[in-house]
Amino acid sequence: MTSGGDSPGMNAAVRAVVRTAIYNGLEVYGIRRGYQGMIDGDIFQMKAQDVSNIIQRGGTILKTARSKEFRTEEGRAKAYAQLQKHGIEALVMIGGDGTFSGAVTFFKQYTIPAIGLPGTIDKDLAGTDFTIGFDTAVNTAVEAIDKIRDTAEAHDRLFIVEVMGRDAGYIALNSGIACGAEDILIPETQTDINDVLDRIDHDERRKKTVHILVVAEGDDFGGAKEVHEKIKERFPDMDIRSSILGHIQRGGSPSFADRVLSSRLGYAAVNALLEGKTQVMAGIINGQVVYTPLEQVVKQHTAIKEDMLQMIRVLSV
Ligand code: F6P
Repeated sequence: MTSGGDSPGMNAAVRAVVRTAIYNGLEVYGIRRGYQGMIDGDIFQMKAQDVSNIIQRGGTILKTARSKEFRTEEGRAKAYAQLQKHGIEALVMIGGDGTFSGAVTFFKQYTIPAIGLPGTIDKDLAGTDFTIGFDTAVNTAVEAIDKIRDTAEAHDRLFIVEVMGRDAGYIALNSGIACGAEDILIPETQTDINDVLDRIDHDERRKKTVHILVVAEGDDFGGAKEVHEKIKERFPDMDIRSSILGHIQRGGSPSFADRVLSSRLGYAAVNALLEGKTQVMAGIINGQVVYTPLEQVVKQHTAIKEDMLQMIRVLSV
């Protein structure tokens, strides 16, 4: 099943799971719309050809959802009953933070072998250097910000670009570095808006005509709207525009990196189940597949290094 926010590469992971399982003589069933489909018994058998021609497609052929019902005891009981009814003996769950938090609660009460695969553009999970969809989402943001810079340059404007990332600044940090942003605001570090304004002031005095500020939607100070208002307040004559990239970051054909990551992890998930591993997430650390208990991957992620932020300021001098 795929669950939570979709991410480019989920289809490639589904393909790898289905084909590795069939190669090993297993029967494979897909669950539509994540936990909601589990509760509703929306479960169907999948053959090798059902995953043909999907490795390059964004979205997820299994569909996805954020199920409110699964957060209830009754919902989880119904879900387990459906798994039993359909003779499901093991699960592969492709999702992010919400999916694995749900899984941890579920497995406190019900036992079924399960492997998680990190599917989220936000990269807000521990136990892996990369998540499925992150690379594609950053590339989408980079393409968009490059275009914004063209028009910013033409008009001598300051642009605030808001990228996705509810609790994580990885998309902002990486797209910002890749696009030569003047400043990057992320939830992992406390944003002092006066410092941001002072840096703009400093650049103005140096007659720097273009500013690109990349802000993660989950920044502690706020998103593009709040930052825009503050800048306007201090520099009323400045020509400022904001752009919220939004869900375009979730769609599109996965990059080669996401296709390879998804294929490796999908293959690893089935092999892990066959070896008797359970309730772990398969991730990639230093190029190797590693398995981390689900409760450890949730709501934790690799710390963002302060020197990266310092570097951005140096490089935009
Ligand atoms: O978790 C991925 C993500 O794209 C976040 O960056 C964003 O805050 C959220 O999903 C948006 O969710 P929805 O599509 O439900 O609005």
